[in-house]
Amino acid sequence: MQAQIEAILNEIKHFSFDSPETVEQFRLKYLSRKGVIPQMFDAFKQLPPDEKRALGKPINELKRLAEDILNDAKKSSVAANASKEDFTRPLHTLDLGSRHPLTLIRDEIVDIFTRIGFDVSTGPEIEDDWHNFSALNFPEEHPARDMQDTFFVEKNPDFALRTHTSSVQVRVMENQKPPIRTISPGRVFRNEAISARSHCFFHQIEGLYIDKDVSFADMKQTILYFAEQFFGKSKIRMRPSYFPFTEPSAEVDVYWGLKNEVDYRLTKGTGWLEIMGCGMVDPAVLTACGIDPEVYSGFAFGMGIERIALNRFQIPDIRIFSENDNRFLMQFAGL
Ligand code: DAH
Repeated sequence: MQAQIEAILNEIKHFSFDSPETVEQFRLKYLSRKGVIPQMFDAFKQLPPDEKRALGKPINELKRLAEDILNDAKKSSVAANASKEDFTRPLHTLDLGSRHPLTLIRDEIVDIFTRIGFDVSTGPEIEDDWHNFSALNFPEEHPARDMQDTFFVEKNPDFALRTHTSSVQVRVMENQKPPIRTISPGRVFRNEAISARSHCFFHQIEGLYIDKDVSFADMKQTILYFAEQFFGKSKIRMRPSYFPFTEPSAEVDVYWGLKNEVDYRLTKGTGWLEIMGCGMVDPAVLTACGIDPEVYSGFAFGMGIERIALNRFQIPDIRIFSENDNRFLMQFAGL
């Protein structure tokens, strides 16, 4: 048995593990229930005591060595296999979100105006009376200041949630010298809980251009450029209107056409779609903001983002924008 132990020792020391299968072959041959080493143990048990004494140590060492060799082989086989894996592959694909439709529209509008030299400005959502109303030439008794429309801060009614982004115009004019070319996107609030469909906040983009010799024609051309870029339409019209902060003031309609049923519905059968309010900045507003109306003139415009997004994406109800329903939001993935 001595010679047999030495022969097997020699074999296992030189066993070549050249594939994952050989690891299992080694185990079967030497260590499994019917393997060489357990069988030697069976024979060992039959030996007379003095031989047992002489062979006990070598046979146990043989077994331990065989087990060590097998364990090492298993480890390097796992490592060898692993090194064939491509660790640059993603483990699983991540679910990406989508940009909100209002963000998409806002970014597109911002992009169109920044291409012609406008910068972007923002202001606070909680605004004081001066920036939201007084500096914009709202008379003291103007109905827009009424509790019906404005959310006032209860503890201090000199502050309110801004009702329009025109407040940012005032802040920019107070802080910058002309020439000023800026657009101001932001959220605005109105107390319009008059029907289930009405909504108490929405988003606007304000535009302001102040320089020497800015004319109504400049305004019209700028808005026409926007209509062409955004809607792909080349005809606009201006209807006289009234805003306290502009004189003259106008509502702008873009000619949409009446080709199909959607056009009829969208334009209420007129072919024209109202897109914004605008006007030449009232001299009283320039004066209130520290700009000399004898030297400078300018125009301003303001539009609602929701209205444009409803139309662009054919969305039936403004409330969907703030419901955060994933089924709705994911329709804008990749846009
Ligand atoms: N602030 C107006 C509103 O909320 C929109 C607007 C109209 C802004 C005319 C302007 C403008 O700057 O010139 O309805």
